[in-house]
Amino acid sequence: MNKIAVFASGNGSNFEALVKAQNNFEAEVSLLIVNKPNAYVIERAKKLGIEFIVLDSNNYESREKYEGALISILEDKGIEYILLAGFMRILTSVIINKFEHRIINIHPSLLPRYPGVAAIKQAFEAGDKETGVTIHYVDQGLDTGEIILQEKVKIEENDTLETLTKRIHELEHKLYPEAVKVVLDKE
Ligand code: GRF
Repeated sequence: MNKIAVFASGNGSNFEALVKAQNNFEAEVSLLIVNKPNAYVIERAKKLGIEFIVLDSNNYESREKYEGALISILEDKGIEYILLAGFMRILTSVIINKFEHRIINIHPSLLPRYPGVAAIKQAFEAGDKETGVTIHYVDQGLDTGEIILQEKVKIEENDTLETLTKRIHELEHKLYPEAVKVVLDKE
């Protein structure tokens, strides 16, 4: 059974969705890596009974050293796939080369539109008629890797940023487990 680590920095709703959907794919979410000591995702891990490790990047003098520490944890735990779910930190080639084609990210836009932060807000404020969710492999660019799954969300006339955000998150929670299954089925 493949072992998965989820990396998160904040709320963790996608982490929870992945844990709850894991019976649908041939892998087990066995570890949560958090880089922010106060992140709410830690409470979710406790409730769900998933092991978590807080690795605060502020305690490392370089990105490379931080990722070196991450890699030893992941190797020690036998992790094969990394799922980024609201992990607010860009990864370098140190970890990307080690886990080539085995790091996946979720992004709340129709990439290549609106990479980076505040993607839902940017689509909303631009007056776009649609936006969406993209799950992609991670490469060294910002939200540029090969797309695994992408699905659209219509922006309605009466949408507010809040109603649109809610629909995007609902779609994320459905689509991320589906994308993981697509990746694992290719093995
Ligand atoms: C999601 O919108 C995801 O697409 C983006 O960060 C957000 C994380 O939300 N990368 P959550 O922490 O999973 O609730």
